[in-house]
Amino acid sequence: MAGQKVTISVIKADIGSIAGHHKVHPDTILAASRVLAEAKRKGVIKSFYVTHVGDDLQLIMTHFKGVDSPEIHELAWNAFKEATKVAKELGLYAAGQDLLSDAFSGNVRGMGPGVAEMEFVERPAEPVIVFMADKTEPGAFNLPLYKIFADPFNTAGLVIDPRMHDGFVFEVLDVYEGRMVKLNTPEELYDLLALIGTPGRYVIKRVYRKSDGEIGAVVSSERLNLIAGKYVGKDDPVMIVRAQSGFPAVGEILEAFSFPHLVAGWMRGSHHGPLMPVGLKDAKCTRFDGPPRVVALGFQIKNGELIGPADLFDDVAFDETRRLAQQVAEYLRRHGPFMPHRLGPEEMEYTTLPKVLEKLKDRFVKADLGYQPKLKRSEELTGPEHE
Ligand code: F6R
Ligand code: MG
Ligand code: MG
Repeated sequence: MAGQKVTISVIKADIGSIAGHHKVHPDTILAASRVLAEAKRKGVIKSFYVTHVGDDLQLIMTHFKGVDSPEIHELAWNAFKEATKVAKELGLYAAGQDLLSDAFSGNVRGMGPGVAEMEFVERPAEPVIVFMADKTEPGAFNLPLYKIFADPFNTAGLVIDPRMHDGFVFEVLDVYEGRMVKLNTPEELYDLLALIGTPGRYVIKRVYRKSDGEIGAVVSSERLNLIAGKYVGKDDPVMIVRAQSGFPAVGEILEAFSFPHLVAGWMRGSHHGPLMPVGLKDAKCTRFDGPPRVVALGFQIKNGELIGPADLFDDVAFDETRRLAQQVAEYLRRHGPFMPHRLGPEEMEYTTLPKVLEKLKDRFVKADLGYQPKLKRSEELTGPEHE
């Protein structure tokens, strides 16, 4: 086993839920589990854990087939298909919602499910944390990832631990234009922040340790509205982070979620709200279909086997974070349909709002502003063709 690379794949989809978009039905979890159990018996995967966060069905799998393995992706697709059959039989809400295509074509990326996978040589003790969020988008992990891997006020190890002191490399995706840039921290911290402060567009995809290039984190970057060209449910991203022994400690990683920062999502994928860390028992969205939530499951991986999980946010130490999240939720809700509770116009393009605005188009008449507005769109259009 020494030196052998193990892969952890977290693949998720909303294939229907009970009472609207509230939570996954246990029978769909069973249906998906049966498919994965059979694959384990055949040796396709080494181990698995199936769970849910809100209305998203989560497949956590370990295997030796590397990232983007067609066999693993097909397995996940089949598990979602079987779960969808059950969802349809039970008349669950939005059954099959995230399966945007009818036929599998080698990779689930771009077909609706969210995917985070990483491959590494297992350390003698290999702690990993799987984060799963509901009612938000992949960029929701930008702020905590920055804190975990680049902020010494969050992660003491950046200062104290010589194995981390060189810093980390952030791989940032431009999900509008399909481009990627790698930025080194701490040297390029300000450049990194200049991008990832726009989380709807710039998404941290991976983080590597600078000294040896070891992978530390990976995020599912699929944005459903950009895949479908319209609103088809929120992305509800997942993330895998490796911990300890030269990576941030479990407590440093969790600390980044002690601030319930504002993320895009919530009701109709159209509102900002606080990201509330919760245990599995509270992983279900209620108030105004939210507020957005995140669960953290800790595992050890041994000889490719998942040992665990530990339900890491199921702890009183996060009670104050949750209380603050509730207060922020209440404050934002008072804004009703006004920004900044409701998302800005670029993001609302993908919702049904443009249809409503279309009706008013012909009602507008010319008005004298007293000046000719000179509009700029530099943040939206940065590609050479737009300059
Ligand atoms: C957000 C979400 C829900 C729905 C809302 C309306 O990710 O899933 O907030 O957008 O409940 O759902 P429909 O349009 O299915 O009635
Ligand atoms: Mg749903
Ligand atoms: Mg969801």
